[in-house]
Amino acid sequence: MEKQINSRDVFEALAKDYIREDTHWGSDLDLIKASLDELIKTEPNPRWLDLGCGAGFHIAAMAELYPEVSIVGVDHSQQMLNAAKYKIKNLGLKNIALNNSDITKKFQEGKYHLITSLNNAFGNLYVSGTDQNEIRAGIAGKITDALCSKGCLILSVYNIEKFNEKSQYCSNVTVVENLSDLAKGDLIAEYRNKGKKVLYYTHWFSEGELRELAKETGLKIDFLERRMSRFLVRYKKD
Ligand SMILES: C[S@@+](CC[C@H](N)C(=O)[O-])C[C@H]1O[C@@H](n2cnc3c(N)ncnc32)[C@H](O)[C@@H]1O
Repeated sequence: MEKQINSRDVFEALAKDYIREDTHWGSDLDLIKASLDELIKTEPNPRWLDLGCGAGFHIAAMAELYPEVSIVGVDHSQQMLNAAKYKIKNLGLKNIALNNSDITKKFQEGKYHLITSLNNAFGNLYVSGTDQNEIRAGIAGKITDALCSKGCLILSVYNIEKFNEKSQYCSNVTVVENLSDLAKGDLIAEYRNKGKKVLYYTHWFSEGELRELAKETGLKIDFLERRMSRFLVRYKKD
């Protein structure tokens, strides 16, 4: 069963309808905008890395407002990146580079003033046969190294307090309870599309885990809010 879990395939299949299905659209844009406003006071050309950028709606929306920000979007789904490319081309944006890469295998090089991982992209990281907590901790360490001093990390992740076993958080998606560990927030979901079924991993976070991440990385939380079924949190580097 383990072998069938494939987070990349599900996003390949979801890519076309992804934004239409996302009822949380934009619920984190204000914090990203406020962070960019703060950054450009001291850094005229900030660098922003978006991990698991998907169809690129955050980076495209902000790139238009902040042409002075250099943005890199990384994702391992080519279909998602194609949707992002289409948007970037249509809007004539020149300040976004996209990179197809699995960040659990190869982390993006460089130093960044802002790093984001939004709409639970951080909770989707999955490496078969491994403790997914360790995968997240490893990536959090790499993010910390990649942040410039005074830089910040913004995560929007699913909030375990809001998890309801009966809920379908996306049409065509059902939680496979016998494969999931609800107490740990580790869910395996089945995505169905045109007769094809794909299992994928999604982690739902507790506030304690998000605070623990700050302790492990040495980053400081300066913003944490519950928004719909998410936590929106900003970490800062000294
Ligand atoms: C729930 S979507 C969020 C997309 C985007 N951040 C947004 O807000 O719309 C999660 C994204 O993370 C990407 N992803 C998951 N695991 C990844 C990995 N190991 N490396 C790169 N991208 C990954 C998926 O392909 C997907 O596009």
